[in-house]
Amino acid sequence: MKKIKERVFETNNIPAEYLVELPKFPKKAKVEATSRCDLKCFYCSHTYKQIKKGDIDRKFLFRILQELKDIGVEEVGLFWIGEPLLVKDLPEYVAYAKKIGLEYVFITTNGRLATPGRIQQLFDSGLDSIKFSINAGNRTLYQKSHGVDAFDTVVSNIKSTWNYRGNKSKPAIYASSIFDPNTKNDFEEINSIIDPYVDEHYPLRMYGEYSFLRENDNQGIFKPVPNNIGRTLSSMLPCWSLFTIPHISFDGYMSACYCDHDEKYYFGNLNEISLIEAWHSEELAALRRQHIAKAVKGTVCEDCIAYTV
Ligand SMILES: C[S@@+](CC[C@H](N)C(=O)[O-])C[C@H]1O[C@@H](n2cnc3c(N)ncnc32)[C@H](O)[C@@H]1O
Ligand code: SF4
Ligand code: SF4
Repeated sequence: MKKIKERVFETNNIPAEYLVELPKFPKKAKVEATSRCDLKCFYCSHTYKQIKKGDIDRKFLFRILQELKDIGVEEVGLFWIGEPLLVKDLPEYVAYAKKIGLEYVFITTNGRLATPGRIQQLFDSGLDSIKFSINAGNRTLYQKSHGVDAFDTVVSNIKSTWNYRGNKSKPAIYASSIFDPNTKNDFEEINSIIDPYVDEHYPLRMYGEYSFLRENDNQGIFKPVPNNIGRTLSSMLPCWSLFTIPHISFDGYMSACYCDHDEKYYFGNLNEISLIEAWHSEELAALRRQHIAKAVKGTVCEDCIAYTV
């Protein structure tokens, strides 16, 4: 099986054949089971932006999964922004995706609700991988940055998930931890606790940290590092989000942006048009053209929350 770092690399690096206005439909997609969440991570757009909250409609989801399968998609994540374990029927959704032949079905979770009972259901559903996000190495910091006192619960759930899997080959169990230049050492602290209980634990570079630093100075956790100006938007262009993976919101829209749940990034109502029509819509093609030219001034990406200008 591919390593998770390879999968992430494939998504974040645009192959030449995809770097065009009308790329073929990617082999992977994310479909948001819910936009609701039980945590308040300060770095996540779910927390600092007003977003529409709701769960995906089952009929719509099943139609989209079938359409994804029919156009050759192999990997489907049943989440985007929001916490997938809040969705009671998630195991049934995973089972459906597997039944129709989707090769690799995965979720990312904050892990607070990954109780042994829930994990057992997900294992039984045929899930291929589960990734836990744990972005602090101790209870105090966790509560500060995630807004909820759940560090011990999450660590305990990771351990019991690992023990429950035992010698089974599936699902793969991963964990990621966000870092910025201020918190590099925290990764080691988290790693020493959870590394024995996951197949891979990897650091995720925080996006948008420069704006959080300015807006969240009073949090007292993340402080600007001298000479760190974060990643600039221009250095990130063209942004992979428009080329390598479509994100589908719970209410049926295809979003160009992986990290911002803002309707201005929606480029097709999938209740009315097909996935290919949305992926090849004129507006999305025009935005890709500007990304390829590295000139996004005047577009929706001008106000990107992930990178500084
Ligand atoms: C938006 S969350 C949705 C799934 C689930 N709620 C969770 O936290 O794992 C998906 C991933 O995005 C990461 N994430 C959120 N905000 C981020 C940021 N500002 N920089 C980098 N990764 C971020 C989370 O840590 C998580 O691994
Ligand atoms: S990172 Fe995940 S857990 Fe944290 S607020 Fe965002 S969606 Fe919720
Ligand atoms: S707003 Fe930023 S992260 Fe989102 S698609 Fe545009 S460049 Fe990418």
